[in-house]
Parts: sequence; C-alpha cells; structure tokens
Amino acid sequence: MDAFIIEGGNPLRGEVKISGAKNAVLGIIPAAVLCACTSKIENVPDIKDVNKMVDILEKLGAEIYREKNTLIINTEKPITYDVSDYEEETGEMRASYYLLGALLGRYRKAIVPMPGGCNIGDRPIDQHIKGFEALGATVMIEHGLVKLEAPNLKGAHIFLDVVSVGATINIMLAAIRADGLTVIENAAKEPHIVDVANFLNLMGANVKGAGTDVIKIRGVDEMHGCEYSVIPDQITTGTYMMAAAATCGNVLIRNVIPKHMEAITAKLNEMGIEVQDEDDGIRVIGKKQLKAINVKTMPYPGFPTDLQQPMAVLMTIAKGTSTITESIFESRFKYVDELRRMGATVSINSRTASIVGVKKLSATKIRATDLRAGAAMVIAGLVADGETKITDIIHIDRGYENFEENLRGLGAVIRRVSE
Ligand code: EPZ
Repeated sequence: MDAFIIEGGNPLRGEVKISGAKNAVLGIIPAAVLCACTSKIENVPDIKDVNKMVDILEKLGAEIYREKNTLIINTEKPITYDVSDYEEETGEMRASYYLLGALLGRYRKAIVPMPGGCNIGDRPIDQHIKGFEALGATVMIEHGLVKLEAPNLKGAHIFLDVVSVGATINIMLAAIRADGLTVIENAAKEPHIVDVANFLNLMGANVKGAGTDVIKIRGVDEMHGCEYSVIPDQITTGTYMMAAAATCGNVLIRNVIPKHMEAITAKLNEMGIEVQDEDDGIRVIGKKQLKAINVKTMPYPGFPTDLQQPMAVLMTIAKGTSTITESIFESRFKYVDELRRMGATVSINSRTASIVGVKKLSATKIRATDLRAGAAMVIAGLVADGETKITDIIHIDRGYENFEENLRGLGAVIRRVSE
C-alpha cells in the first residue's frame, strides 16, 4: 500500500494543466461498444478507474490500443454481453454500471455485476432500472448480477424521480439503439453528460438537449466510429483551485472550461480568494485570511458534491463558522474525523457540517477514506504545520492523474512511499 508524506506550509505557485474528465471518459469508453467500429479517444486521463474500465472491455473481447492519453477502441469483432466473470473488476468501480446501458443497446442483453465505487452513502440503481424497464427490458437481479433482456428495445418517456448522473447516461446509452423517441425528463445536466452525448452524436447517434433537464434521443440503426477529445475535468480543476487557495498560493490552471467552474469560483470569491480568467485558463490567488461561508451541494450547475471535502479543508482555516450541507450523499462526511485529528473543529448535525476556523492545521497520520476525501487530505497536508502522512491513497489514484508530480511542480513537498 502506498502513502503520501507531505511537508506542509509551502504556497503553491506556477502552472498546472488539467487532464480529461474522469466521469466523462468512464461513460465514453463503454459508449464505444455501441457499434462494431473503431473509435479514437483523446485526452484520456491515466488513472486507475480508466485502466480498470479498459481492462474490463479487453476481457469482454474489445481490442484496445493505448498510447499516453489516447485510446483506440476496436469493437469490430463481437464482444460478450455477459460480464459476470469479472465481478472483482466491476465491483471496484461505480462506472461499470454503464456496461448495462451500452451492452443492452448493442446486444439487447446484458449481464453485469452490481457496481462498486466510493463508500459515500446509499447508492441505489433503481432509476437506471426504471429507465431500462421503460425501454422494454426485463430486469432481474440474481446472485449479485443485474440481468437485462429486451428483444424489442422501444423509445419511452421517462421521468427520473431523482436527478442522477449515472441513470441519465445509462438510459441515454440504451436509448441510442432503441426504436423511436426516448425523452428523459429531470435529467442531470453535468458537463460530463454533455460530453458523453457529444461523443455519441459523433458516432451517429441523435441526442438533443444534453445539458438541460430534458434530453431527447431518437434511436438510430447505424452507428460508426469517431475521433473525440474528452473535456477537462471539472472536479480536478476545482481541487487545484482549492489547493492554491488553501496554501495562499498563486496558480494558473490551464486547459479548463471556466463556465464549468462558476459555482466554485463564486464560493471562493465569497471567501475572499481572487479567481481571474486568463486566455488559457484560470488563475487562483489565495488570501492570508479566508472568510467563513455556507455551501450546499447540488446537482450541476450547483456546487458539486465531489468538491465538498476539499472545500471543508478551506473552511477549517477560514475566520468564523462555515457550514456545508451535503444534499446528494448522506455519508460523505466520513473524512471529518481525519480533519479533527489535525485540530479542525467540526460538528455534524444530520447532513450539515459546521466548521469553526482554526489558526492552523497540525500535521499527523491520516487516511484517505475515499477519492475526493483523499484529495482533501492532501490539501490539508499542504497547509498543515509539519509532516503529514496519508495512507490508503489508492483511492486518490483512482481519479487524479500525476497528482503528486503536478503538486511538486507547483512547489509542494510531497512524496509517495510504499509500505
Ligand atoms: C456520479 O455518481 C459520479 N460517478 C460521482 O462521482 C458523483 O459524486 C455523482 O455522480 C454526483 O455528481 C461517476 O460518474 C462514475 P448519481 P452516481 O446517480 O452516478 C440517488 C467521484 O468522486 N440515486 O448522480 O452514482 C443517489 O443515491 C464520484 O468522482 C437514486 O436514488 O451519482 C444520490 O443521492 C463519487 N437512484 C443521487 O441520486 C438511482 O438509481 C445522485 O446520484 C441513482 C441515484
């Protein structure tokens, strides 16, 4: 098991380039199996979740060629719709659920183990299932496997009961090859939904309205391969913005889409942090004394739940009492104990954390409890006084490309040790 050792107290300065969006590419790779074709995908982040998804597709029979951040996926030979032999691989990630929609679309059948992913609360897939059933699939859950079958896949009108990123993309994947029109209402609007839809449209799909809460998909018979470049990662961008702000640094973050960052920029401004748009990115300039603020996580365009934990670290050193209300995942405060070990004053009442700012965090041994909590612990280590050791960083490797190298490039003192 690897760990990070961080010597805190160095302001981050310089430039960092953001990699492709994890949660977009994890929808795009399964989307590539929707037809017998070859697609080239660029700006693919080199992270554990992507490697795992590539590994699963190869085991299913796809031929995949990878060079640095480019993937070429060839699904011209038939691949299997039965993923049941790869329970271990699929159980380690959430996005394996996209194989359901993609394989159902292409083969009218799919057998996929229940997904895994970060332990951040109740994560049912009832909305995915509701969508597949509306499209005409029979759904059985047996021995930990989700089994779908739909001799006739037909377009349908689907109203999601909750705004779900996963259900929106999964239904979209299946509906691409259904007969007729599918309408998804109360759809999620995250940037990665638009990115997956753009990829699908380049493959010959007919998806309209992605990025709004009504998505219309007219099923197509023919699809073909395409070349596509994945959008920059909104959450990685936000993580570096917060790391720059927390260390009172001055960082130009390149290859970003500022529009995707508006909710984060607004909150950083409220704390007194300067965020400037520049030609090729956004610059974040920290302030010595941060102001306390209140944040509520919401589906896009609201403040993302995936940046709740890094934001909490900023609040621990802001003047006054801040609050974070987590409205998406009820157990996403597990990292708070780790911050308390560093001297943070945090109390939790149901879905709201109240954080009373302290003068400084104090370095100690802490744990990455999940992916974004892990990123938050790194930021805490960067600001803490002394040497912080972060264990279980395997969670961080799932979603951040070259994290420690990038931070070192910005002046952080961070190294990886194997235990
Ligand atoms: C996606 O998870 C992301 N994962 C998560 O990113 C992200 O936190 C989350 O969306 C919210 O933005 C991937 O894209 C692989 P949801 P997902 O379905 O699809 C409820 C990260 O750190 N719900 O939008 O699982 C659910 O319980 C990760 O990168 C149902 O009730 O999230 C939650 O309260 C962690 N029934 C809410 O909807 C369903 O069928 C939103 O979940 C589906 C979801």
